[in-house]
Amino acid sequence: MALLECQEVTKNFGGLMAVTNVSLQLEKGEIVGLIGANGAGKTTLFNLISGFYPPTNGSIRFEGDEIAGLKTHDICRKGLVRTFQLVRPFHNMTVWDNVMVGALFGVQKCKNVSRAKEEAMKVLEFTGLHEKKEIPAKELTIADRKRLEVARSLATKPKLLLLDEVLAGLTSTETTEAMKLVRRIRDEMGLTIFMVEHVMKAVMGLSDRLIVLHNGEKIAEGNAKEVSKNPTVIEAYLGEKLHM
Ligand SMILES: Nc1ncnc2c1ncn2[C@@H]1O[C@H](COP(=O)(O)OP(=O)(O)O)[C@@H](O)[C@H]1O
Ligand SMILES: [Mg+2]
Repeated sequence: MALLECQEVTKNFGGLMAVTNVSLQLEKGEIVGLIGANGAGKTTLFNLISGFYPPTNGSIRFEGDEIAGLKTHDICRKGLVRTFQLVRPFHNMTVWDNVMVGALFGVQKCKNVSRAKEEAMKVLEFTGLHEKKEIPAKELTIADRKRLEVARSLATKPKLLLLDEVLAGLTSTETTEAMKLVRRIRDEMGLTIFMVEHVMKAVMGLSDRLIVLHNGEKIAEGNAKEVSKNPTVIEAYLGEKLHM
């Protein structure tokens, strides 16, 4: 059984077809990249999978259970969580407390704050944020805020993590560090990762498989080599970017 299975998922906003008949499967332990130009429907698809909007049509199954139309917190408790393209931590709370919130509301809800703080500390160590644990989130650099966003998600103890542009706006050194973290989340924590990313070299290097959206539709799927040679993809989207 696939960990996640979308069947003919569609989302209309008024007359606008943001996502149209998208079907896909993610297997446990995969890192899958979701790529496509701005406005292709990537974030909307993540919003549908994580429960921010119900789909207009279609089925979304997680571990075999239908989750389309469930609320985000119910989906989170099943073990499916996402990060946001525009990170939004609780700015005045410390890094540690931000991560603790994830532990309090996640899959195995921690029963008390001290237990949640312990769990949060493990995640801070894993993500390399432990030395900044007492700093208010608003004082972090962009790279550390993105790391915090990932840490908050990990504290919920998910099985499937959706990452929305966690590499955007990072320097090349920061990108390399963030890529290492993504790989460790899969290799050491055993999570499955579905990531939206514009940094082509990174997403191609990290992903076992890529799915390409264009105008809300899935136009291709395969490994980096297959996708980058696919004529439909080149015409729709990749053309210039691939001649690096
Ligand atoms: N809440 C919304 N209301 C209306 N239109 C939306 C909403 N969210 C996204 N859209 C539209 O849906 C399309 C896909 O957007 P989005 O999923 O954000 O694309 P991507 O993440 O691939 O850049 C765009 O045309 C966008 O303007
Ligand atoms: Mg987006």
